[in-house]
Amino acid sequence: MRGSARILAGVPVADAVLREAAVRASRLPAPPHLVMVRLGEDPASVSYVRGKDRKAREVGLTSTVYALPEETSQAELLDLIARLNADEGVNGILVQLPLPPHVSEQAVLHAVDPHKDVDGFHPLNVGELWAGRPSLRPCTPAGILALLAHYGLPVAGQRAVIVGRSHIVGRPLAALLLNADATVTLAHSRTPNLTAVTREADLLCVAVGRPHLVTPEMVRSGATVIDVGINRVKPELSGKAYLTGDVHPDVQDVAGAMTPVPGGVGPLTIAQLLVNTVHAAEMQAA
Ligand code: GUN
Repeated sequence: MRGSARILAGVPVADAVLREAAVRASRLPAPPHLVMVRLGEDPASVSYVRGKDRKAREVGLTSTVYALPEETSQAELLDLIARLNADEGVNGILVQLPLPPHVSEQAVLHAVDPHKDVDGFHPLNVGELWAGRPSLRPCTPAGILALLAHYGLPVAGQRAVIVGRSHIVGRPLAALLLNADATVTLAHSRTPNLTAVTREADLLCVAVGRPHLVTPEMVRSGATVIDVGINRVKPELSGKAYLTGDVHPDVQDVAGAMTPVPGGVGPLTIAQLLVNTVHAAEMQAA
């Protein structure tokens, strides 16, 4: 019996989130202004930034993209960030990751004004998040909470297992779920007997970047499965590259609910970035 899981499509949730962002943006004296910076031409980064830029304009925000050469020095990047911090016409700043190896990610994330840090990656925002009083919340984790709320899926009291301890998804998602009263386990590549851990989950979130890492026997019957992976796979013999998640499609047979890839968490990441930009503009206007 294939596909008994309820499919948690992200687009309708993102649309609802974006409608609210557009209404809030329209109440501000000027359209919120998001500035995105990317270095080099990594295809995934180019595509992500293009998608964010397009959606920002669609909902009535102002969006500027700095597409800088790969060789841009750290000093030049920090200088640009300092100018954007000082510019009152800029409400949100996002530096697309990953950065080339000659640029320190830590130095860059520290440099962004925490009030304009629409990624929620500045250590001050990370600290506030773990202290239980988040302001600008990392986009993908916040999008996942919006998705769960939209579909009426409970978080409080649930046993949540996250696989993947990245700074972008796993760690901040652990904090948000903890703040929402889940019992949280953060598993990773060094977790022994991963299957025994994931089978405990009422809510299983997977953010590793390995196609089909999670197979049906790793999932408890009826669990909610959130697949954050977006992996580009190219079949060896035939055909075109395609996108697939960290969760094997057969998990649909055992899960109670599951996000698709693509079209699950992805659209929510963008929507939450724009909400954060509106939120940053509201705070700066207050
Ligand atoms: N690269 C992959 N995801 C993200 C994200 O959420 N923010 C930034 N800045 N870079 C990313």
